[in-house]
Amino acid sequence: MTAQLIDGNALSKQLRAEVAVRAAKLTEKGITPGLAVILVGENPASQVYVRNKVKACQDAGLHSVLEKYPATMTEAELLARVDALNNDPSIHGILVQLPLPKHIDDHKVIESISPLKDVDGFHVASAGALLVGEPGFKACTPFGCMKMLESIGYDLRGKHAVVIGRSNIVGKPMAMMLLQSSATVTICHSATPDLAYHTRQADVVVAAVGKRNVLTADMVKPGAVVIDVGMNRDDDGKLCGDVDFAGVKEVASWITPVPGGVGPMTITMLLVNTIEAAERL
Ligand code: GUN
Repeated sequence: MTAQLIDGNALSKQLRAEVAVRAAKLTEKGITPGLAVILVGENPASQVYVRNKVKACQDAGLHSVLEKYPATMTEAELLARVDALNNDPSIHGILVQLPLPKHIDDHKVIESISPLKDVDGFHVASAGALLVGEPGFKACTPFGCMKMLESIGYDLRGKHAVVIGRSNIVGKPMAMMLLQSSATVTICHSATPDLAYHTRQADVVVAAVGKRNVLTADMVKPGAVVIDVGMNRDDDGKLCGDVDFAGVKEVASWITPVPGGVGPMTITMLLVNTIEAAERL
């Protein structure tokens, strides 16, 4: 069997076009949806990410402000900026790019963002809302994975989903979203003794570890759906995911490529969250 691709670029294009229509409607009513992105320091990967986020906003007709600060910015100064943006009516979403310099407490900064503007879905209030099934902003990467499953008409009810990885940003919220859709969910992580034992039983596998070849063909049940959140480099410096794509695509029924899979969906869901924040007003 050769798996069909779940094309994150094509799905993103469609969802971003929907965002653009919603943004235009709001703008007509005098509300231009606005996202503020804060970058502290010079992390090269973060610089690329925030540039892409700001450009995606502009392309969809959202207003976006990029605030760049030196790595010497103090925690108090950053908290003051977040506070100002919390109170700025032209800003509907606030994103503080992680990682922050070591002298700044990530958790304290995220918790200082108003949950009404927490478009990353990282605030404890957003995570808690997801846990109890209440409305709130969903973390963008797992939210994007759910949209990808929805796009192929996949019904998760009663299916066994295995999530590899337990980060607060991907693994844990992913598991909660799958559970919310009535899947039976297993979370595997670095202390799981026999990962393959679990993944071989899975109808859906989400790999979110940040390590190459975490999932190989022998670990996948024929016909399973495989979502690859990983973003790594191979020996030739080429972008690759956590999944051995060449092998697994011969066993799975659907698979997300890297690049062009989950990656573009993360920014797309940030736009969706931002437009929702503006519409909720
Ligand atoms: N750093 C890497 N990914 C992300 C993300 O999705 N949001 C934020 N705020 N920082 C990140």
